[in-house]
Amino acid sequence: MEFLSGKHILVGVCGGVSAYKSAELVRVLRRAGAQVRVVMTASAGEFIGARTLQALSGEPVWQRWSDDRSGMQHIELARWAERILIAPATADRLARLAQGRADDLLGAVCLACEAPLAVAPAMNQAMWRHPATQHNVSVLHERGVQVYGPDEGEQACGDVGPGRMQEPQVLAQALADSFQHGLLAGLRVVVTAGPTREALDPVRYLSNRSSGKMGYAVATAAREAGATVELVSGPVVLPAPAGVRLQRVESAQEMLEAVLPLARASDLFISVAAVADYRPATVAPAKIKRQAADRVLALEPAADILAAVAALPTAPFCVGFAAETGDLRQNAQKKRLSKGVAMVVANLVGPGLGFETEDNALLLVWEGGQLQLEKDTKYRLAVRLIAQIAARYRLSALNVVEPHAKHSTENTR
Ligand code: CTP
Repeated sequence: MEFLSGKHILVGVCGGVSAYKSAELVRVLRRAGAQVRVVMTASAGEFIGARTLQALSGEPVWQRWSDDRSGMQHIELARWAERILIAPATADRLARLAQGRADDLLGAVCLACEAPLAVAPAMNQAMWRHPATQHNVSVLHERGVQVYGPDEGEQACGDVGPGRMQEPQVLAQALADSFQHGLLAGLRVVVTAGPTREALDPVRYLSNRSSGKMGYAVATAAREAGATVELVSGPVVLPAPAGVRLQRVESAQEMLEAVLPLARASDLFISVAAVADYRPATVAPAKIKRQAADRVLALEPAADILAAVAALPTAPFCVGFAAETGDLRQNAQKKRLSKGVAMVVANLVGPGLGFETEDNALLLVWEGGQLQLEKDTKYRLAVRLIAQIAARYRLSALNVVEPHAKHSTENTR
């Protein structure tokens, strides 16, 4: 269940006998590394104590609108969640969801949330089979809601039939699987991230404000899309994304040396790193001392990693990033052509934009096309970006794209 590591899972608990299994569900999700928040409906409290769920999730449990001091708790929870799983989902909850009602906190969170919603129904078998419930389930299906189960078997009321909530382990696995879309299944992807450091002397270096967050989000999204991902990262404070092989480097030269052998054997290269364009022409062997006169630093060009990969005889499908302070579209297209890559992803940088921020907005350009991805969290943007890259990659493999792009069809396996 590596795909759950660090994920934000909101568990909705409704009033049903199987609410006791929600405690185990929260525990399994936490064990898999997920962050879990619980929203209980009013009647859930008759079946399980909020304190139990609070202790297991390690977070306060949200129960009523009155817990919502800011008046915006439903929006905050909705933005926080990367998945919502309602377990157990009663017949009444399915009906409410189908109607889009927002007369309790859980209903409002579900309406406000753009992340995927899953439900694990649990009810008496006759209630489950009832045409009203079946109609509600098909409405939810059509809306893209995942319906996990229910299982068949002996029920708390003594009946036998469909209506038992799926086991916590099964639900957690289904959630983990939902993070692996498979758009890049079987492909090898190399991602660079973070800044580079170009040494001036043993204690000083030239660098930039890149936090690495965008690159790590891209690596995570590529992994979740089923790719085997190699992440080559400059110095950042982020933990390695789950399921991704990470190599840490410092300078542009080290990054180049790490990337080239990996890129030769890869299908896609996504160059998110803010690599230095210049490095000191000489590295002083000892600490440079203060002097009264001005000091001029001699710089020489650093290795252009993206251009080097794009120029490989068996180059992978290359995607570059462009951090710009203006003229986004023109600069991005110019960069795409000058680096000889299939796609450039441009973003504005400057105070409060791009670097060192949680959110971003991206402009994707390729030959004959462009797409604006509006402001969102870096992770959500990365998921959408990976979907776009996968689509363009598949087209290129079919030889449907720009004839003069540097990636060659023989390598777009
Ligand atoms: N890049 C690279 N190696 C470098 C510099 C940049 O691989 N030495 C990659 C970045 O990872 C990014 C793309 O090239 O994918 C664009 O980087 P950017 O610094 O924005 O563009 P430059 O080529 O440096 O052009 P300019 O500074 O003139 O905008």
